[in-house]
Amino acid sequence: MSHLYFGGADVVELAEEYGTPLYITDENRIIENFRSYKTAFEDYDTDIYYAVKANGNLAILKLLAREGAGADVFSTGELQLTKLAGIEREKILFNGNSKSDDDLIAAVESGVRVSVDSYDELNALASVSEQLGAEVEIAIRVNPDISADINPKIATGLKESKFGVPYGEVMKICRAAHSMRNISLRGLHCHIGSQILDVRVFGDAADKMLNLVASLHEAGIELEFVDLGGGLGIGYRPEEKAPTPAELHDALLPAFERNKAEAGIAPKLILEPGRSIVGSASILVSRVNAVKHAFKNFVAIDAGFNLLIRPVMYDAYHEVVVANRYNEPCTELYTIVGPICEAGDIIARDRLLPEVKRGDLIAILDTGAYGFSMSSQYNGRPRCAEVLVRDGHADLIRERESFEDLLRNQKVPARLR
Ligand code: LLP
Repeated sequence: MSHLYFGGADVVELAEEYGTPLYITDENRIIENFRSYKTAFEDYDTDIYYAVKANGNLAILKLLAREGAGADVFSTGELQLTKLAGIEREKILFNGNSKSDDDLIAAVESGVRVSVDSYDELNALASVSEQLGAEVEIAIRVNPDISADINPKIATGLKESKFGVPYGEVMKICRAAHSMRNISLRGLHCHIGSQILDVRVFGDAADKMLNLVASLHEAGIELEFVDLGGGLGIGYRPEEKAPTPAELHDALLPAFERNKAEAGIAPKLILEPGRSIVGSASILVSRVNAVKHAFKNFVAIDAGFNLLIRPVMYDAYHEVVVANRYNEPCTELYTIVGPICEAGDIIARDRLLPEVKRGDLIAILDTGAYGFSMSSQYNGRPRCAEVLVRDGHADLIRERESFEDLLRNQKVPARLR
């Protein structure tokens, strides 16, 4: 029986040693993915801000900090994680469409930039920074009104989306921000969506954003940077060809060159990739608890949407393989289901696999982005462990939760004791 190897390690041995379910992340893959951005954009002044929401494990953040990554953070929690990981504050952008006073205070006190999503937020930020006696650098989050061919739940640049200031109102809010005392307007920010496979829409977004930069320049407002967000897709299906950072570069750069030639301005480019850095770098390994020949051939595993919600939430496809029968001929059609008490807890439908037995190991591929980071304890299930492998050697980077973790923070009123 042949075994699946990942990051140079035998997946079956890791499952024995650390138990299942188990997220396994390949360190070298993350580094390669990150460096491919650096290389692709080395001919233009570009910073790569990793989108922490994709995978906020501290070891992974440390790894990326060491590679020179900045960070897109969407909450005070993510901000604290990135600071702990040692990411320089000058390279952190605090994003979000619903920031509390406490979030704004944390951002100003940490000295990071804020991407402002509305007038309301702009005014609140101005008063917070005045109270703290500090100046805060901001970007305006633009709603670019761009439609990418992706799942509507992750399309964020549509005009009906909750994110950003409507395109037609950006000049006005920039003028307002420009005149505020404790606010220093430095850039424009957008994010058109996620898992985008056709890079041309990124070129459209760059055009629209740079048109705004040029109009602001004419109005006497100079900007330092344009942040085009993340969104580059990965190849989840065997036949799906993922666009490369080099292709993204070629889609974006014409707009920057045109802007430089016509308006004489060349703002720094910031990108916020999440999925394309970590997505392909992890697998989720799960043990088969039962094989049932019913309406379909069901394979019931010990990981469900508590640990990987993407198939349920977005009808997302993840390739699955039998880790302890890797390379055996695929002869049976199976539907892989999780242990959660919901009929929708389906990880993969109608997949051709070798004959599966109780005790086998199913590896779900490309689960490094929005996998563990969207996990829950639903159905009284402590979250699983995570290991980081490098050249065949594994380190635990998150301990398996226990029953204690299910109880943590719960209180029983005296009258019920
Ligand atoms: N920047 C901003 C402002 C974002 O909202 C996002 C993702 C990113 C960057 C990173 O995008 P990426 O390069 O990872 O596509 N949970 C969904 C994806 C949600 C994406 C949310 N925003 C999924 O599992 O497909």
